[in-house]
Amino acid sequence: MHYFSASATATLTVLSAAALTQALSTWDAAYEKAQESLQSLTQDEKAGIVSGVTWEGGPCVGNTYAPKSIAYPSLCLQDGPLGIRFANPVTVFPAAINAGATWDRELIRARGAAMGAESKGLGVHVQLAPVAGALGKIPSAGRNWEGFGSDPYLSGIAMQEAIEGMQGSGVQACAKHYILNEQEHGRDSMSSNIDDRTMHELYLWPFYDAVKANVASVMCSYNKINGTWACENEAVLNGLLKEELGFRGYVMSDWNAQHSTVESANTGMDMTMPGSDFNQPPGSIYWDSNLVEAVANTSVSQDRLDDMVTRILAAWYLLEQDEGYPEVAFSSWNGGKASVDVTANHGDVARTIARDSIVLLKNENQTLPLKNPASLAIIGSDAIVNPDGANACTDRGCNKGTLAEGWGSGTAEFPYLIAPLDGIQKRVASNGTKIVTSTTDDATAGAEAAAGADMAIVFITSDSGEGYITVENNAGDRNDLNPWHDGNALVKAVAAVNTKTIVVVHSSGPVILETILQQPNVVAVVFAGLPGQESGNALADVLYGDVSPSGKLPYTIGQSEEDYGITWVKDGANDDFSEGLFIDYRHFDQNEIAPRYEFGFGLSYTRFNFSGIQVNVDATSGPATGAVGVGGAADLYEVVGTVSLVVTNIGDVAGAEVAQLYLGFPDTAPATPPKQLRGFQKLALEPSANGDVEIELRRRDISYWDVAQQQWVVPTGTFDVYVGASSRDIRLTGTFTV
Ligand code: BGC
Repeated sequence: MHYFSASATATLTVLSAAALTQALSTWDAAYEKAQESLQSLTQDEKAGIVSGVTWEGGPCVGNTYAPKSIAYPSLCLQDGPLGIRFANPVTVFPAAINAGATWDRELIRARGAAMGAESKGLGVHVQLAPVAGALGKIPSAGRNWEGFGSDPYLSGIAMQEAIEGMQGSGVQACAKHYILNEQEHGRDSMSSNIDDRTMHELYLWPFYDAVKANVASVMCSYNKINGTWACENEAVLNGLLKEELGFRGYVMSDWNAQHSTVESANTGMDMTMPGSDFNQPPGSIYWDSNLVEAVANTSVSQDRLDDMVTRILAAWYLLEQDEGYPEVAFSSWNGGKASVDVTANHGDVARTIARDSIVLLKNENQTLPLKNPASLAIIGSDAIVNPDGANACTDRGCNKGTLAEGWGSGTAEFPYLIAPLDGIQKRVASNGTKIVTSTTDDATAGAEAAAGADMAIVFITSDSGEGYITVENNAGDRNDLNPWHDGNALVKAVAAVNTKTIVVVHSSGPVILETILQQPNVVAVVFAGLPGQESGNALADVLYGDVSPSGKLPYTIGQSEEDYGITWVKDGANDDFSEGLFIDYRHFDQNEIAPRYEFGFGLSYTRFNFSGIQVNVDATSGPATGAVGVGGAADLYEVVGTVSLVVTNIGDVAGAEVAQLYLGFPDTAPATPPKQLRGFQKLALEPSANGDVEIELRRRDISYWDVAQQQWVVPTGTFDVYVGASSRDIRLTGTFTV
């Protein structure tokens, strides 16, 4: 990993150690142990293992009943996707959307491994992450930042790496939210109505990777799917997940996403969380003793209950949690103070990911990296930590001070938070730059501070989160894609008086930047996402050129919200997913709409040349017909070819490039998007160095879902191969014919 500075290389050595995969048992061995343990359990104990003890009934956000007859604990289930919720100290990693923006498999895995180690250290058995739903078809949707980006292939690879990292550290992962929970408005009443092909090629795709990675559990979501609740949906749970994908772990409900005793049991749900229901009516308990009764009156079979228990026990054995697993070391409900410190050196992991996820969007006249300007104005409330404290708002449900996480259950408590101003001040301590600040979003004050300075950095935000909290009138989903706190006015005022204005954006998703880009004095734009506790240090690393930016957008930044072609459904209506396969760049490409910054885009301080493409694919057309194993038909994962090329660093400084492979399918696969991501590789290169890229294509990567055959089918005909530095900056092309 030679694109890191000396200190970063040290970080990475530790990362690889953390990422080492602990020997996992196999599903077969785990099932054998589970089936044996099952024999000792009473009916009540079985019902207890599959039922939550009610909300706040134990130390974790989810807890099950411990049986007496076997040595099996009250399972502790805890959020979440960027760190361990309601506990301290823990590490607040960059959000998954930033992990996705690194396009770096090793870092995504290392992040998972470090989070998994913290979970295990705290006695958490099941970490409620990672997230592939929402996938992010709606650019304003509140929880997109909990996942890895708006492309199923990128999300799928990230799910695999995250799960292998987490489970390698010994904690059970939970792939969520299954499925089609694409927005917060109306999430627990609306139906996501979808056609079979779109379901497979977009939304189910990353769950294939999750299952293939041996994920222990899957969380069914709040919404309905084609009219039936996700947590009692035969087609989706028993059909897709357990039969087609060969999932051997267990399905838990999202918190209160269960709506029935019998249907949920018979359609494939295996664990109810948190055991009591907040809403319908409050205090309802669907399982526990009610499940015992349902088995007694044969509306649920004994086999089904035994299957639920076996799956849950097997996952526990799979992760070897039967061997000396730590006790739960905190309580979510009393401030979360842990009796152990599990953070190790994970701050370094967080900083590396935060740094490598920064996407440089614009850099005129090589404004960046900074060359020790005599004076620098730092402007905006996002430059400093919330004066009330980094954790002042519950579940980060406010946008005050620098934005480093979104809000909702997918958050954690900052052990510390390095704001941009802190990170920059550390740098200037030794180089004499005079810092002038205006740390509110007041445009007049900002302009005053910026007027006399050599350069100005304006910090703006756009925030979103989970729908149970409304922030500045945004009920989870963002009301629009504009900067918050009138960031456009702030940038305009500063750029009117300072000819070298740099804009830094902290955001949970795409932001419309048109007003900002129209200011001739805005010479650079840095998109830093939701970088977690090391925000300011990571930003300074990039601003000062210790490392070249290497993040790439995991979604499209359009010129307007309308350009995404997505109808965001409000007021309790259902979503018919009428855009089908055409979300994000697939939509922009298909309709020839120019994005402002396309999917996969990101600048560097150096330049790269792509050469020598070789396409070598040897596949037979037709359906995948292999036996279904964990992850689906075995032959879906057969490598059918490679695309190789050489990337050369032709600039003056070290940097990293992401070679991105997109495929255009032949017309025999009807109405397929013009380009679809089907491979990527990140390369770190010193100046003048060459790097070999070899991307493997699996049978699945060249297949489409044939609705009539109900199979993944490799079409006949000629595929177009595009390799480039983004979805539109295509540098090399080729073809192969099946
Ligand atoms: C969220 C889940 C979370 C659960 C437990 C729900 O509101 O949708 O993602 O894991 O709460 O906190």
